[in-house]
Amino acid sequence: MKANPAQTDAVILVGGRGTRLRPLTVNTPKPMLSTAGYPFLQHLLARIKAAGITHVVLGTSYRAEVFEEYFGDGSEMGLEIEYVVEEEALGTGGAIRNVYDRLRHETVMVFNGDVLAGTDLNAILETHESKNADVTMHLVRVSDPRAFGCVPTDTDGRVLEFLEKTEDPPTDQVNAGCYVFRREVVEAIPAKKVVSVERETFPQLLISGSRVYGHVDHAYWRDMGRPGDFVRGSSDLVRGVVHSPLLEGRTGESLVEASVGVAGGVILLGGTSIGRGSEIGAGCRLDGTVVFEGVTIEPGAVIEDSIIAAGARIGANARIKGCVIGEGAHIGARCELKSGMRVWPGVVIPDNGVRFSSDA
Ligand code: GDD
Ligand code: MG
Repeated sequence: MKANPAQTDAVILVGGRGTRLRPLTVNTPKPMLSTAGYPFLQHLLARIKAAGITHVVLGTSYRAEVFEEYFGDGSEMGLEIEYVVEEEALGTGGAIRNVYDRLRHETVMVFNGDVLAGTDLNAILETHESKNADVTMHLVRVSDPRAFGCVPTDTDGRVLEFLEKTEDPPTDQVNAGCYVFRREVVEAIPAKKVVSVERETFPQLLISGSRVYGHVDHAYWRDMGRPGDFVRGSSDLVRGVVHSPLLEGRTGESLVEASVGVAGGVILLGGTSIGRGSEIGAGCRLDGTVVFEGVTIEPGAVIEDSIIAAGARIGANARIKGCVIGEGAHIGARCELKSGMRVWPGVVIPDNGVRFSSDA
């Protein structure tokens, strides 16, 4: 039988707290953070739609209301989106079981809501069909597998073990956060309980001899859960290194909303994106940076590989590299912020308030 995306439900897990992206996620759930001009989740939904899947269920928990307010019933995107809210977060497995009543088809494609990938989703569905699998998981090779679920397979692609975040991974092949489930496998997950799909469901399926297969590919892949990956992923979308149907024909060195004010001599490069209503002063240089809405950047500021949240203000000639600036924070003129610094929402750093170099 040929895999049929129209006969497949998509389930997206978007209930996590996004702690590794704080303070951006203090008010906004991670999948709703602006990435290359759109909430990250919108790029994923567009990919799902482009693959031919139209029924999507979002498993929400943290800041659940934000998703429905933005996407509604999904009809504007040509999708039918339903929302299921966990009052208390049920974990990844519990979240999947929690949407069982909304499933319409025998085949269910589950997505982590924070993965940017160029993978052919239909190819994963085809592997699932051809292997007659109970679960098929998308696998990728990464340089440091310790932060992910490590998934060794045999020569036929059958999964041998699932080792979530292990210090001593036996292979560099990891769980890419996209799975195809047979519907009855979802039903078998205990209902209304906290369950980790990675630490409980997958290991148990393997012990019980279920047919769990891997689909390995070499397409673009990135987990957007940490600031460095978030800026890189956004920049790769803007530059077209990874394709988003939302950015068709608009890729380039930068992506600037029409309402943005850009003064003379400004240099925007490295996939920088600037959100609605922001103002960039004369002579600023922004490289590989994500600027949300309503941000003011005063003349001469130099910003690299950073995320500037909504309503923040960056003073003249400030230098910021590899930082996260929270909503409404104010960085004074000539401040120099070092890589890894995170400024909390509303914090005000006075002019010359942070400097690291002894000259000037
Ligand atoms: N509804 C719901 N409820 N969603 C949840 C919950 C929950 O209790 N907990 C987490 N999620 C969602 C998050 O919002 C995210 O979209 C997804 O599940 C994965 O959670 P992360 O917190 O991003 O997990 P991770 O990145 O550390 O690890 C996972 O992803 C890796 C690939 O990116 C694991 O699946 C790893 O095995 C995998 O390699
Ligand atoms: Mg993640």
